[in-house]
Amino acid sequence: VHYPFVLTPLPYDYNALEPFIDEKTMHLHHDRHLKTYVDNLNAALKNYPEFQTWSLERLLKNVNWLPEDIKTPVKNNGGGVYNHEFYFNNMSAERDTQPSPELLEQIDRDFGSLDEFKQQFKKAALGVFGSGYAWLALDKNGKLVIKQTANQDTLIPLELCPVVVIDVWEHAYYLKNYNVRADYIDNWFHVVDWQKASVNYEKHTAIEKA
Ligand SMILES: [Fe+2]
Repeated sequence: VHYPFVLTPLPYDYNALEPFIDEKTMHLHHDRHLKTYVDNLNAALKNYPEFQTWSLERLLKNVNWLPEDIKTPVKNNGGGVYNHEFYFNNMSAERDTQPSPELLEQIDRDFGSLDEFKQQFKKAALGVFGSGYAWLALDKNGKLVIKQTANQDTLIPLELCPVVVIDVWEHAYYLKNYNVRADYIDNWFHVVDWQKASVNYEKHTAIEKA
């Protein structure tokens, strides 16, 4: 996948996450916010055919070596596309899915229990100052860690493999939860797709074992 980047449709209906995340928020978040990142990323690359064959991951990995005038637009808008696609794909119309036995075992090992993880994750998501994300990720030693990122920064420069992400920009919850981020996080836990998270986890651990 490379330039021109396209707005990937949601993998479920706009109202599929009701009543936890409302339809109007999903429309605005996907059709306007994500679309703006896609459009601005394409605009940044428009006059640079040499980077139009690069994947989004490659662009973000090498962002510091890009020409000065597109470095920041690619970092912010490319990050916006990458993070939002991960976030939207990481939720499900199914309710209260569960991690695979393998992922659950490692969550128990690294955080004590799934409940303990949820508490720590909620604290991290609440603690993001301003706009950003909270992630569950695998580090280079194969340990699960919780990480906060600001704005549209990604985990790519940190060399962490993403398993789960929550977007805590106000646009993700303001219409429904106003400024109460804690309520949004509690709601999000009902629609997070642990089956997909387990696939992410197993993909990364398989790479590490290879
Ligand atoms: Fe967002």
